[in-house]
Amino acid sequence: MITIKGVILAGGTGSRLSPLTKVTNKHLLPVYDEPMIYKVIKTLTSSGIKDITIVLGGESVGDFVRLLGDGSEFNANFNYVYQQRPGGIAEALYLTKNIVKGHKIAVILGDNIFEDAFKSEIEEFEKSNEHQCCLFLKKVEDPQRFGVAELNNDNTIKSIEEKPKIPKSNYAVTGLYLYNENIFDLIKKIINEIGYSDRGELEITDVNNYYVKINKAKAIFVKGFWSDAGTFDTLIKSSNFVKSFLNNKS
Ligand code: DAU
Repeated sequence: MITIKGVILAGGTGSRLSPLTKVTNKHLLPVYDEPMIYKVIKTLTSSGIKDITIVLGGESVGDFVRLLGDGSEFNANFNYVYQQRPGGIAEALYLTKNIVKGHKIAVILGDNIFEDAFKSEIEEFEKSNEHQCCLFLKKVEDPQRFGVAELNNDNTIKSIEEKPKIPKSNYAVTGLYLYNENIFDLIKKIINEIGYSDRGELEITDVNNYYVKINKAKAIFVKGFWSDAGTFDTLIKSSNFVKSFLNNKS
């Protein structure tokens, strides 16, 4: 049985989708047949994760709680944490410390839509202590929008750059991260030694680069569809993917 805890990061403002996000939250918008956050929850639950902490932000917290409740509809157990301002992905993750510390965790960004489930990868990470972090990479055509991994000849990660103007590869670091129990000590270290970036965020890329530097980050290549759904184009792209996926199934 999987004992890894799940974390969904659904804070942030969704400013790239304004005015769709003027009176509601990005993660409540539809991706074809369901609210975006349902798809993200299902990536975790279909990977065997049942205990999930959701970080919320903005003004729609009541709507999230009414929609998702205690998690029983998803055969899961939900906890909620509130992020006061969008201070970055690593900051949002740090807020879950008191709930998930002492466990390995699977963290997913609330706007990342995956076709695949990751049960075997998560089971493997749970069993083995060879790596302290697992990053999921996907080849994309517009890498400058993402964290981009530079790869060594053996497909291990050499370094990661956040939204580089001149990307060193086409491999985006997707918004699914597996970390071991030391993640919160590491974020504390990043706060003290690197701090917030020019865009005012505590960057997950700084965290991931630390694991890369100590040779403890594993790269996994995502086979199925992946997209963020945080822009008009990727929101419709994600909806279209889900539509054709469901049509092919029936
Ligand atoms: O989608 C993958 C990309 O996500 C990665 O390749 C990048 O390395 C990573 O930095 C991130 O980039 P974005 O700039 O696209 O992230 P964004 O600010 O859109 O935030 C993504 C999700 O993270 C968002 O849906 C909610 C959550 N979030 C974000 C921020 C800034 C929070 O929960 N709190 C926050 O403060």
